Amino acid sequence: MKYFIQTLFFALLSFNIYAQSIDGGSESEENNGSIANAEIAIIPEPVTLVKNTGHFVLPTNIVIEAAKNNQLNQTVAFLKERLSIPTGHYVSTISVPSATATIKLLLNEKTDAVIGNEGYQLSVTQKHIIIKANKPAGLFYGVQSLLQLLPKEIESKEEVKGIKWTMPCVEVTDYPRLGWRGLMFDVARHYFTKDEVKQYIDAMVRYKYNILHLHLADDEGWRIEIKGLPKLTEVGAWRADRTGTFGDFIPPKPDEPRSYGGFYTQEDIKELVAYAAERFVNIMPEIDVPGHSLAAIAAYPELSCTPDAVNYKVRSGEKIMDWSRGAPPLGLIDNTLCPANEKVYVFLDTVFTQIAKLFPFEYIHVGGDEVARNFWEKNDQIKELMKREGLKTIPQVQAYFTKRVEQIVTSKGKKFMAWDEVLEGGVSQNAAVMSWRDMKYGVEASNAGHEVVMSPTQYAYIDYMQADAITEPRVYASLRLSKSYEFDPVPANANAKFIKGAQANLWTEQVYNIRQAEYMTWPRGFAIAESVWSPKEKKNWPNFFARTEKHFERLDIAETKYAPSVYDPIFTVKRSADRNLSVTLSTEVEGLDMYYSFDNSFPDHFYPKYSSPLVPPIDAKVLKVITYRGKKPVGRMMNMPIEELEKRPGKR
Ligand code: ACM
Repeated sequence: MKYFIQTLFFALLSFNIYAQSIDGGSESEENNGSIANAEIAIIPEPVTLVKNTGHFVLPTNIVIEAAKNNQLNQTVAFLKERLSIPTGHYVSTISVPSATATIKLLLNEKTDAVIGNEGYQLSVTQKHIIIKANKPAGLFYGVQSLLQLLPKEIESKEEVKGIKWTMPCVEVTDYPRLGWRGLMFDVARHYFTKDEVKQYIDAMVRYKYNILHLHLADDEGWRIEIKGLPKLTEVGAWRADRTGTFGDFIPPKPDEPRSYGGFYTQEDIKELVAYAAERFVNIMPEIDVPGHSLAAIAAYPELSCTPDAVNYKVRSGEKIMDWSRGAPPLGLIDNTLCPANEKVYVFLDTVFTQIAKLFPFEYIHVGGDEVARNFWEKNDQIKELMKREGLKTIPQVQAYFTKRVEQIVTSKGKKFMAWDEVLEGGVSQNAAVMSWRDMKYGVEASNAGHEVVMSPTQYAYIDYMQADAITEPRVYASLRLSKSYEFDPVPANANAKFIKGAQANLWTEQVYNIRQAEYMTWPRGFAIAESVWSPKEKKNWPNFFARTEKHFERLDIAETKYAPSVYDPIFTVKRSADRNLSVTLSTEVEGLDMYYSFDNSFPDHFYPKYSSPLVPPIDAKVLKVITYRGKKPVGRMMNMPIEELEKRPGKR
């Protein structure tokens, strides 16, 4: 019965797509999220979109009308480039009202209270295109939606001939659900060049993200030039060059070259900040202290309480923490800045003075997570500090450090933000909290009146595997697209007033290059974008996934990598009473068929189709599975060793 209803649903869905894709339908209709529309696939889903009859055809001479305004000029240049390159059409601009303009970008004279600072109204008629907004940011977002209404070839980096450059007539009113729509990019574990960071920004702005959180310092690298502290980048930015599964590497030999790494000069940072700002993205810097600080300590060992720090080197992926008893971890070496050493606060003052000047964004993130405090417990300097300051516990020592750092950050005119562990020892009321270990920390913090950004592991950790570990680069946890899509950054028990927004975090221990960074970010980045921008009531997984597939085609043309993992089957393994394995296969996405083999050959759609749990034949060594939609393979060939399945019953 369920299957029949699903089939009916998909039949109706395809009828609707057909009806709309031939002529746009004869009547206006609101795209209320209940249908997937082949022609209109905007991500994140707009607040309201009414589709009208007919199409607008891009003329060969495109005229963009926009008033002269510093903040608007970049949007105009952006649109001009995005239109002229793939279409080969001539695009000119005019700064006075013109009856013949093709596309008008208009700033409202009277503020429209509904759309706020980042919203826009987009009107596409057969005659012209008008985008209206209160602020330049809104026009930029309107432009992103406009581009998504054009054929997918608009994403091309070169001219594409033979395309009918048309778009459906629509009326869109759109604005974000939340103001903080971020992605965190860890450029410390692996280094990404300035141009790669720009490439990452280019991809995120398509989906209306407005914050790039750069994790600039960790055990594996210090990535920003600080004047007067040259060793931070001479020593701290470099490590041994290793590949494989980061974390298990053989410790580098003392004389092993430290040739992997890099850093951003202050000029690079200014360029990145300006590049981001032109695209309405703020960059938030993070210097993670007091833990995760080995790169700084390798450069300046006097920042540590541990005398042996003179021998420390920047981590190259060898084991330095013991997580076997859970969090906080046990440090095998001391990767913390010493809270009892005044030199540390002088050092941080220098660092944050320069960072505050380089990054105009109002927040500085100071980390505070996963501090291995076992070296502090035995240290005489710390014991003296505790006596002097009346600190009773080691968590209170961290809280003392956090408060001192907060004073430094606020003295530079910036707001202080840190990971949710800082709540443990007590933190000032003004501290903003980034909730990562669980939503509950963010909920508690919001109810205690702290500003909160939600980035919980359960939904927003995009360094986690996207499908079965058998195909994905091995990470210790998984997060599927459908789970990311469930993310609601403002749970009912939180104080919504204090939830600024949310972000996805890309840690890069296992991310060696920008292509893999993209693979990890997309499509989960679509899901998070939709969680922070679109109305909660419009959430609809089949509709979202239909649009996601359209964006796979766009990203192919844009040459941005994404993960096809959502098509991979899910293996659920049980052991029956007779000790046989029983393997259930399922998919995240409806409407797919799975074909399998146990005979080592590659299944296709002429092989047995999965319909009920499988019992591996007695001598079988591997279960191979591939997903199809109709006669087209969509998934990757999965090679699941029976030996691996044998280990799984009872495991989560
Ligand atoms: C974190 O993931 N340690 C913030």
